[in-house]
Amino acid sequence: MEWMLKILLIGSGAREHALAWALAKSPLVSKLYCAPGNAGIAAVAERVPVAATDSDRLVAFARDNGIGFVVIGPEAPLVAGLWDRLEAAGIKALGPSAAGAALEGSKGFVKDLCAANGIPTAAYGRFGNAVEAKRYAQMMPLPVVIKADGLAAGKGVIIAETRAEADAAIDSMFEGAFGAAGHEVVVEEFLEGEEASLFVLTDGEHIVPLGGAQDHKRAFDGDQGPNTGGMGAYSPAPVLTAAVTNLALTRIVRPTIAAMAARGTPYMGVLFAGLMVTKDGPKLIEYNCRFGDPECQVLMTRLKSDLAAALIATREGRLSGLTLEWRDEAALTVVMAAKGYPGDYAKGSIIRGLDEAAALPGVEIFHAATERKDGDWIATGGRVLSVTARGASVAEAQARAYAAVDRIDWPDGFCRRDIGWRAIAREQDA
Ligand code: AMP
Ligand code: GLY
Repeated sequence: MEWMLKILLIGSGAREHALAWALAKSPLVSKLYCAPGNAGIAAVAERVPVAATDSDRLVAFARDNGIGFVVIGPEAPLVAGLWDRLEAAGIKALGPSAAGAALEGSKGFVKDLCAANGIPTAAYGRFGNAVEAKRYAQMMPLPVVIKADGLAAGKGVIIAETRAEADAAIDSMFEGAFGAAGHEVVVEEFLEGEEASLFVLTDGEHIVPLGGAQDHKRAFDGDQGPNTGGMGAYSPAPVLTAAVTNLALTRIVRPTIAAMAARGTPYMGVLFAGLMVTKDGPKLIEYNCRFGDPECQVLMTRLKSDLAAALIATREGRLSGLTLEWRDEAALTVVMAAKGYPGDYAKGSIIRGLDEAAALPGVEIFHAATERKDGDWIATGGRVLSVTARGASVAEAQARAYAAVDRIDWPDGFCRRDIGWRAIAREQDA
Protein backbone atom coordinates (compact mmCIF):
# COMPACT_ATOMS: atom_id res chain seq x y z
CA MET A 1 0.00 0.00 0.00
CA GLU A 2 1.52 3.31 -1.04
CA TRP A 3 -0.94 5.64 0.56
CA MET A 4 -0.88 7.07 4.05
CA LEU A 5 -3.76 8.42 6.01
CA LYS A 6 -4.83 10.38 9.02
CA ILE A 7 -6.42 8.27 11.72
CA LEU A 8 -8.78 9.42 14.45
CA LEU A 9 -8.94 7.19 17.52
CA ILE A 10 -11.84 7.68 19.90
CA GLY A 11 -11.63 7.11 23.65
CA SER A 12 -9.47 8.03 26.62
CA GLY A 13 -8.47 4.91 28.53
CA ALA A 14 -5.41 2.69 28.73
CA ARG A 15 -7.02 0.56 26.00
CA GLU A 16 -6.90 3.59 23.72
CA HIS A 17 -3.32 4.39 24.81
CA ALA A 18 -2.31 0.86 23.78
CA LEU A 19 -4.17 1.21 20.46
CA ALA A 20 -2.58 4.64 19.85
CA TRP A 21 0.87 3.24 20.66
CA ALA A 22 0.36 0.42 18.15
CA LEU A 23 -1.21 2.64 15.46
CA ALA A 24 1.56 5.24 15.80
CA LYS A 25 4.12 2.60 14.74
CA SER A 26 2.34 2.01 11.42
CA PRO A 27 3.94 3.31 8.24
CA LEU A 28 0.39 3.81 6.90
CA VAL A 29 -0.43 6.51 9.42
CA SER A 30 0.57 10.05 8.46
CA LYS A 31 -1.03 11.59 11.53
CA LEU A 32 -2.81 10.17 14.57
CA TYR A 33 -5.46 12.08 16.53
CA CYS A 34 -7.20 10.93 19.68
CA ALA A 35 -10.49 12.32 21.00
CA PRO A 36 -10.40 13.08 23.86
CA GLY A 37 -7.31 11.03 24.84
CA ASN A 38 -5.34 11.65 28.03
CA ALA A 39 -1.92 13.06 28.93
CA GLY A 40 -0.20 9.71 28.34
CA ILE A 41 -1.77 9.31 24.90
CA ALA A 42 -0.48 12.80 24.02
CA ALA A 43 3.00 11.25 23.63
CA VAL A 44 1.86 9.36 20.52
CA ALA A 45 -1.22 11.22 19.22
CA GLU A 46 -2.54 14.75 18.97
CA ARG A 47 -5.43 15.20 21.36
CA VAL A 48 -8.77 16.53 20.16
CA PRO A 49 -10.93 18.02 22.92
CA VAL A 50 -14.17 16.27 21.96
CA ALA A 51 -15.94 13.67 24.11
CA ALA A 52 -16.22 10.09 22.82
CA THR A 53 -20.02 10.39 22.95
CA ASP A 54 -20.29 13.71 21.04
CA SER A 55 -21.10 12.20 17.63
CA ASP A 56 -21.91 15.50 15.94
CA ARG A 57 -18.57 17.05 16.74
CA LEU A 58 -16.61 13.85 16.05
CA VAL A 59 -18.15 13.55 12.57
CA ALA A 60 -17.49 17.24 11.93
CA PHE A 61 -13.88 16.96 13.10
CA ALA A 62 -13.26 13.91 10.90
CA ARG A 63 -14.81 15.61 7.85
CA ASP A 64 -13.03 18.94 8.35
CA ASN A 65 -9.63 17.36 8.95
CA GLY A 66 -9.49 14.83 6.14
CA ILE A 67 -9.55 11.82 8.45
CA GLY A 68 -9.15 8.65 6.37
CA PHE A 69 -10.04 6.11 9.03
CA VAL A 70 -11.62 6.14 12.48
CA VAL A 71 -11.08 3.60 15.27
CA ILE A 72 -13.67 3.66 18.05
CA GLY A 73 -12.39 2.26 21.37
CA PRO A 74 -15.37 2.15 23.78
CA GLU A 75 -18.75 0.46 23.42
CA ALA A 76 -21.06 3.40 24.16
CA PRO A 77 -20.42 5.31 20.90
CA LEU A 78 -20.62 2.06 18.89
CA VAL A 79 -23.95 1.08 20.43
CA ALA A 80 -25.19 4.64 19.88
CA GLY A 81 -24.41 4.38 16.15
CA LEU A 82 -21.24 6.45 15.71
CA TRP A 83 -19.99 4.07 13.01
CA ASP A 84 -23.22 4.55 11.03
CA ARG A 85 -22.94 8.34 11.39
CA LEU A 86 -19.33 8.42 10.20
CA GLU A 87 -19.93 6.12 7.25
CA ALA A 88 -23.03 8.12 6.22
CA ALA A 89 -20.73 11.15 6.08
CA GLY A 90 -18.33 9.22 3.82
CA ILE A 91 -15.74 8.54 6.53
CA LYS A 92 -14.46 4.99 6.81
CA ALA A 93 -14.34 3.50 10.28
CA LEU A 94 -13.82 0.25 12.11
CA GLY A 95 -17.25 -1.00 13.16
CA PRO A 96 -19.45 -2.48 14.20
CA SER A 97 -22.58 -0.67 13.12
CA ALA A 98 -25.25 0.01 15.75
CA ALA A 99 -27.06 -3.11 14.56
CA GLY A 100 -23.88 -5.15 14.99
CA ALA A 101 -23.13 -3.59 18.37
CA ALA A 102 -26.42 -5.07 19.65
CA LEU A 103 -24.21 -8.09 20.41
CA GLU A 104 -22.99 -6.04 23.37
CA GLY A 105 -25.87 -3.57 23.69
CA SER A 106 -28.62 -6.13 24.35
CA LYS A 107 -27.98 -9.28 26.35
CA GLY A 108 -31.45 -10.58 25.42
CA PHE A 109 -30.67 -10.16 21.72
CA VAL A 110 -27.52 -12.27 22.06
CA LYS A 111 -29.30 -14.97 24.06
CA ASP A 112 -32.04 -15.27 21.43
CA LEU A 113 -29.42 -15.38 18.67
CA CYS A 114 -27.61 -18.19 20.53
CA ALA A 115 -30.86 -20.11 21.06
CA ALA A 116 -31.83 -19.80 17.39
CA ASN A 117 -28.42 -21.00 16.20
CA GLY A 118 -27.51 -23.68 18.72
CA ILE A 119 -24.65 -21.64 20.21
CA PRO A 120 -23.67 -22.95 23.67
CA THR A 121 -24.52 -20.48 26.43
CA ALA A 122 -26.24 -20.49 29.84
CA ALA A 123 -29.95 -21.42 29.89
CA TYR A 124 -31.99 -18.23 30.24
CA GLY A 125 -35.27 -16.38 30.22
CA ARG A 126 -35.83 -12.82 28.96
CA PHE A 127 -38.41 -10.68 30.80
CA GLY A 128 -40.11 -7.29 30.59
CA ASN A 129 -41.62 -7.39 34.08
CA ALA A 130 -40.57 -8.37 37.59
CA VAL A 131 -43.33 -10.90 38.29
CA GLU A 132 -42.40 -13.24 35.46
CA ALA A 133 -38.66 -12.73 35.96
CA LYS A 134 -39.01 -13.73 39.64
CA ARG A 135 -41.16 -16.74 38.79
CA TYR A 136 -38.47 -18.00 36.40
CA ALA A 137 -35.63 -17.21 38.84
CA GLN A 138 -37.42 -19.24 41.55
CA MET A 139 -37.25 -22.32 39.33
CA MET A 140 -33.51 -22.02 38.69
CA PRO A 141 -30.85 -23.64 40.89
CA LEU A 142 -28.78 -21.26 43.04
CA PRO A 143 -26.75 -19.25 42.46
CA VAL A 144 -28.78 -17.64 39.70
CA VAL A 145 -27.55 -14.81 37.47
CA ILE A 146 -29.65 -11.66 36.98
CA LYS A 147 -28.64 -9.25 34.19
CA ALA A 148 -29.89 -5.87 33.03
CA ASP A 149 -30.42 -6.15 29.28
CA GLY A 150 -28.59 -3.00 28.18
CA LEU A 151 -25.20 -1.32 28.73
CA ALA A 152 -24.46 -0.79 32.41
CA ALA A 153 -20.69 -0.17 32.36
CA GLY A 154 -20.03 -3.74 33.50
CA LYS A 155 -22.19 -3.35 36.62
CA GLY A 156 -25.51 -4.79 35.43
CA VAL A 157 -24.82 -8.41 36.44
CA ILE A 158 -25.80 -9.79 39.85
CA ILE A 159 -24.96 -13.34 40.91
CA ALA A 160 -27.65 -14.07 43.48
CA GLU A 161 -26.78 -16.68 46.11
CA THR A 162 -30.25 -16.71 47.72
CA ARG A 163 -33.88 -16.42 46.53
CA ALA A 164 -34.21 -13.13 48.40
CA GLU A 165 -31.14 -11.70 46.64
CA ALA A 166 -32.52 -12.76 43.26
CA ASP A 167 -35.86 -11.07 43.94
CA ALA A 168 -34.15 -7.91 45.21
CA ALA A 169 -31.90 -7.79 42.13
CA ILE A 170 -34.87 -8.14 39.79
CA ASP A 171 -36.82 -5.44 41.66
CA SER A 172 -33.87 -3.04 41.67
CA MET A 173 -33.39 -3.45 37.91
CA PHE A 174 -37.03 -2.83 37.07
CA GLU A 175 -37.03 0.09 39.53
CA GLY A 176 -34.28 1.73 37.44
CA ALA A 177 -31.02 0.94 39.30
CA PHE A 178 -29.33 0.71 35.87
CA GLY A 179 -31.53 3.22 34.09
CA ALA A 180 -32.94 2.21 30.73
CA ALA A 181 -30.55 -0.79 30.64
CA GLY A 182 -32.83 -2.51 33.18
CA HIS A 183 -36.14 -2.13 31.34
CA GLU A 184 -35.62 -5.71 30.33
CA VAL A 185 -33.94 -8.40 32.42
CA VAL A 186 -32.25 -11.68 31.55
CA VAL A 187 -32.27 -14.42 34.19
CA GLU A 188 -29.75 -17.17 33.53
CA GLU A 189 -28.13 -20.34 34.73
CA PHE A 190 -24.86 -19.96 36.65
CA LEU A 191 -22.01 -21.53 34.66
CA GLU A 192 -19.18 -23.33 36.49
CA GLY A 193 -15.71 -23.17 35.01
CA GLU A 194 -12.81 -20.87 34.24
CA GLU A 195 -13.41 -17.58 32.44
CA ALA A 196 -11.35 -16.38 29.49
CA SER A 197 -11.63 -13.77 26.76
CA LEU A 198 -11.21 -14.57 23.09
CA PHE A 199 -10.75 -11.81 20.51
CA VAL A 200 -11.21 -11.88 16.75
CA LEU A 201 -11.25 -9.39 13.90
CA THR A 202 -14.04 -9.99 11.43
CA ASP A 203 -15.07 -8.28 8.21
CA GLY A 204 -18.55 -9.80 8.45
CA GLU A 205 -17.57 -13.00 6.72
CA HIS A 206 -13.97 -13.98 7.49
CA ILE A 207 -12.36 -13.99 10.87
CA VAL A 208 -8.78 -13.52 12.04
CA PRO A 209 -8.14 -14.64 15.63
CA LEU A 210 -6.40 -12.09 17.85
CA GLY A 211 -5.72 -14.51 20.67
CA GLY A 212 -6.92 -14.87 24.19
CA ALA A 213 -6.48 -13.21 27.55
CA GLN A 214 -7.68 -13.46 31.11
CA ASP A 215 -8.52 -10.47 33.25
CA HIS A 216 -9.04 -10.03 36.98
CA LYS A 217 -12.34 -8.34 37.71
CA ARG A 218 -12.24 -8.17 41.52
CA ALA A 219 -10.55 -5.25 43.24
CA PHE A 220 -8.34 -7.14 45.72
CA ASP A 221 -5.84 -10.01 45.86
CA GLY A 222 -7.23 -13.52 45.81
CA ASP A 223 -10.14 -12.35 43.65
CA GLN A 224 -11.77 -10.69 46.66
CA GLY A 225 -13.70 -7.45 46.93
CA PRO A 226 -16.03 -5.64 44.57
CA ASN A 227 -16.15 -6.06 40.79
CA THR A 228 -14.19 -3.50 38.79
CA GLY A 229 -13.61 -2.71 35.13
CA GLY A 230 -10.55 -5.00 35.35
CA MET A 231 -7.46 -4.86 37.62
CA GLY A 232 -5.03 -6.66 35.33
CA ALA A 233 -4.74 -9.15 32.50
CA TYR A 234 -2.36 -11.43 30.71
CA SER A 235 -2.06 -13.11 27.35
CA PRO A 236 -1.96 -15.83 26.21
CA ALA A 237 -4.46 -17.50 28.54
CA PRO A 238 -3.32 -21.11 29.16
CA VAL A 239 -6.96 -22.25 29.62
CA LEU A 240 -7.56 -21.36 25.96
CA THR A 241 -5.67 -24.32 24.56
CA ALA A 242 -5.66 -24.81 20.79
CA ALA A 243 -8.50 -27.34 21.19
CA VAL A 244 -10.67 -25.05 23.35
CA THR A 245 -10.00 -22.10 21.03
CA ASN A 246 -11.01 -24.18 18.04
CA LEU A 247 -14.24 -25.25 19.71
CA ALA A 248 -15.02 -21.65 20.66
CA LEU A 249 -14.41 -20.48 17.11
CA THR A 250 -16.43 -23.26 15.48
CA ARG A 251 -19.32 -23.50 17.91
CA ILE A 252 -19.63 -19.89 19.07
CA VAL A 253 -17.86 -17.20 17.04
CA ARG A 254 -18.32 -18.44 13.46
CA PRO A 255 -22.04 -19.27 13.87
CA THR A 256 -22.55 -15.81 15.39
CA ILE A 257 -20.86 -14.04 12.47
CA ALA A 258 -22.86 -16.18 10.01
CA ALA A 259 -26.14 -15.47 11.85
CA MET A 260 -25.49 -11.72 11.90
CA ALA A 261 -24.80 -11.77 8.15
CA ALA A 262 -27.89 -13.90 7.49
CA ARG A 263 -30.15 -11.43 9.29
CA GLY A 264 -28.84 -8.58 7.14
CA THR A 265 -26.75 -6.98 9.90
CA PRO A 266 -23.24 -8.21 9.18
CA TYR A 267 -20.85 -7.69 12.08
CA MET A 268 -17.59 -5.91 11.18
CA GLY A 269 -14.94 -5.00 13.73
CA VAL A 270 -13.42 -6.52 16.86
CA LEU A 271 -15.52 -9.19 18.52
CA PHE A 272 -14.65 -10.01 22.14
CA ALA A 273 -16.19 -13.27 23.34
CA GLY A 274 -16.35 -13.65 27.11
CA LEU A 275 -16.24 -17.41 27.61
CA MET A 276 -16.72 -19.88 30.43
CA VAL A 277 -14.60 -22.95 29.83
CA THR A 278 -16.84 -25.61 31.37
CA LYS A 279 -16.48 -29.37 31.60
CA ASP A 280 -18.72 -29.50 28.51
CA GLY A 281 -16.47 -27.16 26.55
CA PRO A 282 -16.53 -23.39 26.10
CA LYS A 283 -19.83 -21.54 26.54
CA LEU A 284 -20.57 -17.92 25.75
CA ILE A 285 -21.06 -15.61 28.76
CA GLU A 286 -21.31 -12.41 26.77
CA TYR A 287 -20.06 -10.54 23.74
CA ASN A 288 -18.38 -7.16 23.63
CA CYS A 289 -18.16 -5.20 20.40
CA ARG A 290 -14.65 -3.82 21.02
CA PHE A 291 -11.30 -4.59 22.57
CA GLY A 292 -11.29 -5.28 26.32
CA ASP A 293 -9.66 -2.98 28.80
CA PRO A 294 -7.15 -4.13 30.17
CA GLU A 295 -7.01 -7.09 27.72
CA CYS A 296 -6.14 -4.79 24.80
CA GLN A 297 -2.96 -3.66 26.52
CA VAL A 298 -1.54 -7.21 26.58
CA LEU A 299 -2.72 -8.04 23.05
CA MET A 300 -1.10 -4.91 21.61
CA THR A 301 2.13 -5.67 23.50
CA ARG A 302 2.27 -9.08 21.77
CA LEU A 303 1.22 -7.94 18.28
CA LYS A 304 4.08 -7.73 15.78
CA SER A 305 2.02 -6.97 12.65
CA ASP A 306 0.81 -3.53 11.58
CA LEU A 307 -2.40 -2.80 13.54
CA ALA A 308 -3.55 -0.04 11.17
CA ALA A 309 -3.25 -2.34 8.15
CA ALA A 310 -5.23 -5.07 9.92
CA LEU A 311 -8.04 -2.74 11.00
CA ILE A 312 -8.31 -1.14 7.55
CA ALA A 313 -8.39 -4.61 5.94
CA THR A 314 -11.23 -5.45 8.32
CA ARG A 315 -13.26 -2.44 7.15
CA GLU A 316 -12.45 -3.20 3.50
CA GLY A 317 -13.61 -6.83 3.72
CA ARG A 318 -10.10 -8.10 3.01
CA LEU A 319 -9.54 -10.47 5.93
CA SER A 320 -9.55 -13.62 3.83
CA GLY A 321 -5.97 -14.89 3.89
CA LEU A 322 -4.69 -12.24 6.30
CA THR A 323 -2.58 -13.61 9.13
CA LEU A 324 -1.13 -11.64 11.97
CA GLU A 325 2.22 -12.17 13.62
CA TRP A 326 2.58 -12.30 17.38
CA ARG A 327 5.55 -12.35 19.70
CA ASP A 328 6.19 -15.71 21.30
CA GLU A 329 6.41 -13.95 24.65
CA ALA A 330 3.65 -13.56 27.21
CA ALA A 331 2.42 -10.13 28.27
CA LEU A 332 0.93 -9.08 31.59
CA THR A 333 -0.55 -5.79 32.76
CA VAL A 334 -1.15 -4.51 36.29
CA VAL A 335 -3.77 -1.79 36.70
CA MET A 336 -2.93 0.92 39.21
CA ALA A 337 -6.06 2.59 40.53
CA ALA A 338 -6.85 5.45 42.88
CA LYS A 339 -7.43 4.27 46.47
CA GLY A 340 -11.15 3.77 46.95
CA TYR A 341 -11.84 2.58 43.39
CA PRO A 342 -14.32 1.15 42.34
CA GLY A 343 -16.10 3.18 45.05
CA ASP A 344 -15.39 6.85 45.77
CA TYR A 345 -11.86 8.08 45.22
CA ALA A 346 -10.03 11.39 45.13
CA LYS A 347 -8.70 12.95 41.93
CA GLY A 348 -5.65 15.13 41.52
CA SER A 349 -2.92 13.23 43.39
CA ILE A 350 0.64 13.38 42.02
CA ILE A 351 2.34 10.33 40.46
CA ARG A 352 6.15 10.18 40.38
CA GLY A 353 8.66 7.75 38.96
CA LEU A 354 6.91 7.03 35.67
CA ASP A 355 10.01 7.59 33.53
CA GLU A 356 12.18 5.31 35.69
CA ALA A 357 9.52 2.60 35.59
CA ALA A 358 9.00 2.85 31.83
CA ALA A 359 12.76 2.59 31.23
CA LEU A 360 12.86 -1.03 32.50
CA PRO A 361 13.34 -3.63 29.75
CA GLY A 362 10.14 -4.94 28.15
CA VAL A 363 7.92 -2.48 30.03
CA GLU A 364 5.28 -0.13 28.58
CA ILE A 365 3.11 2.07 30.76
CA PHE A 366 -0.29 2.83 29.29
CA HIS A 367 -2.23 5.69 30.86
CA ALA A 368 -5.93 5.40 31.64
CA ALA A 369 -6.60 8.70 33.37
CA THR A 370 -3.78 11.23 33.72
CA GLU A 371 -3.22 14.89 33.06
CA ARG A 372 -0.17 17.17 33.39
CA LYS A 373 -0.18 19.98 35.92
CA ASP A 374 2.81 22.23 36.63
CA GLY A 375 5.13 19.60 35.20
CA ASP A 376 3.66 16.78 37.35
CA TRP A 377 1.61 13.75 36.36
CA ILE A 378 -1.81 13.92 38.03
CA ALA A 379 -4.32 11.06 38.49
CA THR A 380 -7.72 12.02 37.11
CA GLY A 381 -9.80 8.83 37.35
CA GLY A 382 -10.37 5.48 39.05
CA ARG A 383 -8.22 3.22 36.91
CA VAL A 384 -5.17 5.40 36.22
CA LEU A 385 -2.28 3.36 34.81
CA SER A 386 -1.84 0.01 33.14
CA VAL A 387 1.73 -1.13 33.79
CA THR A 388 2.52 -3.71 31.13
CA ALA A 389 5.48 -6.02 30.53
CA ARG A 390 6.58 -8.79 28.21
CA GLY A 391 8.44 -11.91 29.32
CA ALA A 392 9.41 -15.41 28.25
CA SER A 393 6.69 -16.72 30.60
CA VAL A 394 3.75 -15.17 32.44
CA ALA A 395 5.89 -15.38 35.60
CA GLU A 396 8.67 -13.34 33.97
CA ALA A 397 6.23 -10.79 32.57
CA GLN A 398 4.69 -10.51 36.05
CA ALA A 399 8.08 -9.98 37.72
CA ARG A 400 8.92 -7.22 35.24
CA ALA A 401 5.54 -5.53 35.58
CA TYR A 402 5.78 -5.45 39.38
CA ALA A 403 9.39 -4.20 39.20
CA ALA A 404 7.98 -1.27 37.22
CA VAL A 405 5.05 -0.82 39.63
CA ASP A 406 7.56 -0.65 42.50
CA ARG A 407 9.35 2.28 40.88
CA ILE A 408 6.14 4.26 40.67
CA ASP A 409 5.75 6.58 43.62
CA TRP A 410 2.03 7.16 44.07
CA PRO A 411 0.88 6.98 47.71
CA ASP A 412 -2.76 7.53 46.71
CA GLY A 413 -2.83 4.55 44.35
CA PHE A 414 -3.10 0.79 44.79
CA CYS A 415 -2.90 -2.36 42.70
CA ARG A 416 -3.35 -6.09 43.08
CA ARG A 417 -0.13 -8.00 43.73
CA ASP A 418 -1.30 -11.32 42.26
CA ILE A 419 -2.14 -10.60 38.62
CA GLY A 420 -1.50 -13.74 36.59
CA TRP A 421 -1.77 -16.18 39.52
CA ARG A 422 -3.74 -18.83 37.64
CA ALA A 423 -1.33 -18.94 34.71
CA ILE A 424 1.73 -18.88 36.96
CA ALA A 425 0.35 -21.78 39.03
CA ARG A 426 -0.06 -23.71 35.77
CA GLU A 427 3.48 -22.81 34.63
CA GLN A 428 4.83 -24.08 37.97
CA ASP A 429 2.90 -27.36 37.61
CA ALA A 430 4.18 -27.92 34.09
P1 AMP B 1 -20.81 -9.86 32.04
O1 AMP B 1 -21.01 -8.38 32.24
O2 AMP B 1 -21.90 -10.54 31.29
O3 AMP B 1 -19.40 -10.20 31.62
O4 AMP B 1 -20.84 -10.48 33.51
C1 AMP B 1 -19.91 -10.06 34.47
C2 AMP B 1 -19.32 -11.27 35.12
O5 AMP B 1 -20.34 -12.02 35.76
C3 AMP B 1 -18.70 -12.24 34.15
O6 AMP B 1 -17.39 -11.86 33.81
C4 AMP B 1 -18.75 -13.52 34.95
O7 AMP B 1 -17.70 -13.55 35.90
C5 AMP B 1 -20.04 -13.40 35.67
N1 AMP B 1 -21.11 -14.08 34.94
C6 AMP B 1 -21.97 -13.55 34.05
N2 AMP B 1 -22.83 -14.48 33.60
C7 AMP B 1 -22.52 -15.63 34.24
C8 AMP B 1 -23.05 -16.94 34.21
N3 AMP B 1 -24.11 -17.27 33.47
N4 AMP B 1 -22.47 -17.88 35.00
C9 AMP B 1 -21.41 -17.57 35.79
N5 AMP B 1 -20.88 -16.35 35.86
C10 AMP B 1 -21.42 -15.38 35.10
N1 GLY C 1 -12.10 -6.17 30.81
C1 GLY C 1 -13.43 -6.40 30.43
C2 GLY C 1 -13.99 -5.45 29.48
O1 GLY C 1 -13.31 -4.67 28.84
O2 GLY C 1 -15.20 -5.47 29.29
